[in-house]
Amino acid sequence: MSSHVSGSSSHDAAGGAEFLELAVTLARTAGATAVAMRPDAIGTTTTKSSDTDPVTAADKAAEQLIVDGILAARPNDAIVGEEGGGIAGTTGVSWFVDPIDGTANYVYGIPIYAVSIAVEVDGSVVVGVVYNPESDELFTARRRGGAFRNGEPIRVNADVPLAKALMGTGFGYKPEDRAVDGAVIAELLPKIRDLRRLGSAALDLCAVAMGRFDAYFETGLHVWDYAAGALLVEEAGGQCCGLDGSTPGPEMMIAAHSPLANDLAGALKLAAETASVEGRVGRD
Ligand code: IPD
Repeated sequence: MSSHVSGSSSHDAAGGAEFLELAVTLARTAGATAVAMRPDAIGTTTTKSSDTDPVTAADKAAEQLIVDGILAARPNDAIVGEEGGGIAGTTGVSWFVDPIDGTANYVYGIPIYAVSIAVEVDGSVVVGVVYNPESDELFTARRRGGAFRNGEPIRVNADVPLAKALMGTGFGYKPEDRAVDGAVIAELLPKIRDLRRLGSAALDLCAVAMGRFDAYFETGLHVWDYAAGALLVEEAGGQCCGLDGSTPGPEMMIAAHSPLANDLAGALKLAAETASVEGRVGRD
């Protein structure tokens, strides 16, 4: 699905200003809603893809607020939201919305979650916004316009060897997938500096974009988890890829400065082969 995170568009830095402004406004408002509704998080938690995959009233309220805001300003755009299903559009513009990325953290009161909004035009993501309302960190990117944290330019860490790399990763909610992820990590962990699991893919990608992590990898993500963060990484000088030089997507998302991304892809492939779980790595 690289079309979501790579490529060019006439809606580059100049053309994306309108989208960026709307996405920032909606991300800040949705973030404030999430914070205000936090006291009710546990009481309103239900589950979706598995018994451990939470969704709260705040996820739904924040997504509705964002969808309403997009439709008010741009009634004919398409919207793909984590909690909602899809709204078809006619303009060639699609919005990818994760109202609370890191819902488990949100429920437990861990202040690591974010609103993630990306705008795709004709198959290329041109704007990405990730907002953590707890730390008041706003990450923004426009294609060919750079990546920023609270308005300051950010860059990925360059030239870090695999053995010295601090990485982030994450796990989906299905027990059978986690067993395989664990086997792969057991092979990889002795070969790197260390591994972190923040609990928000969008913030993991922003961590790479600003150099808090050297790299990040995860299987089984959805486009609303990574579309905005992947643009942040690319605009901060990094690369997003899958295995074997393939494009990044739900089957594998690797993010880092280019040489490290390639080395990590090779190491993950080897780890999967050694752990005899090749069928899982690279699978949706
Ligand atoms: C989840 C988070 C988590 C990642 C999962 C995602 P959600 O998103 O990004 O870090 O490991 O794969 O599903 O469900 O909290 O929006």
